[in-house]
Amino acid sequence: MKKYLVIGNPIGHSLSPKLHNYWIKKNNIEAVYDKQELKNHDLKDLIIKIRNKEINGINVTVPFKNEIISYLDKLSHEADLTKSVNTVYLEDDKVIGHNTDIEGFELAIKNINYDISEKQIFIVGAGGVVSSIILALKKMKASKILLSNRTKNKAENLKKIFRDLEIIDWGKLPDFDVVINATSIGLDKNDELNIDFSKIKNGRLFYDVIYNPKQTNFIKNAKKLGNKTENGKKMFIYQAAAAFKIWHGIKPEIDDKINDLLDE
Ligand code: ATR
Repeated sequence: MKKYLVIGNPIGHSLSPKLHNYWIKKNNIEAVYDKQELKNHDLKDLIIKIRNKEINGINVTVPFKNEIISYLDKLSHEADLTKSVNTVYLEDDKVIGHNTDIEGFELAIKNINYDISEKQIFIVGAGGVVSSIILALKKMKASKILLSNRTKNKAENLKKIFRDLEIIDWGKLPDFDVVINATSIGLDKNDELNIDFSKIKNGRLFYDVIYNPKQTNFIKNAKKLGNKTENGKKMFIYQAAAAFKIWHGIKPEIDDKINDLLDE
């Protein structure tokens, strides 16, 4: 029986096991997908287990997407560009780190038929997934990417990777076509991002990386102001599908049941 894991801290909220185990069963694969809460000092032993084939693959989530890199043998081009790994597997006895968040975000945007090209994008937050979103936005030819984070040096670290990123002081509101909430504000349904978006003309796209709850206050307020909205659910599903393809060689079907499964 093959064994897969999602690791993070905290990890209780993760819906990856539900989704992967659904696809595993549907495709008659002999495998199980679990979740495990880890500490930084557990990473080394975990990678040894992958090397020994005791574990066949892992997904990596907050806060280890970057920390895990030093334990791996090789990074895919995408993981190297973003310094972020969310999928690990063994190939030719080498432990490889890859990043399917980039593809996840790109496919999610394509799925809603939104054309990013020549658009000005404002990212709020600088958490683990932001470098992947920036790379996807650049692939989709965004004209300009602006980013603001409470802790400015995290934003500046991203600028070291993406030189043309424009850093906006926390609390300032630039004009934009698309705004992305990439903070953890909204995970609690009462959380409010302290930015007054009523000053911005309507008809913009408000994208929240959070998908649970389905409607954060960021999304609710954006709707009230007459904007388009999208949450992070499709990105989550597409990044998982890409990881599944890498591990099992099968492109899993994104059927209607998945929506219900993730809403339960
Ligand atoms: P990590 O930073 O470990 O990758 P994350 O959940 O991916 O974790 O990211 C959390 C993001 O939400 C960060 O951008 C964080 O800002 P800081 O870098 O300043 O911590 C942001 N965030 C969380 N709570 C916040 C708050 N109350 N106000 C503003 N930003 C907040």
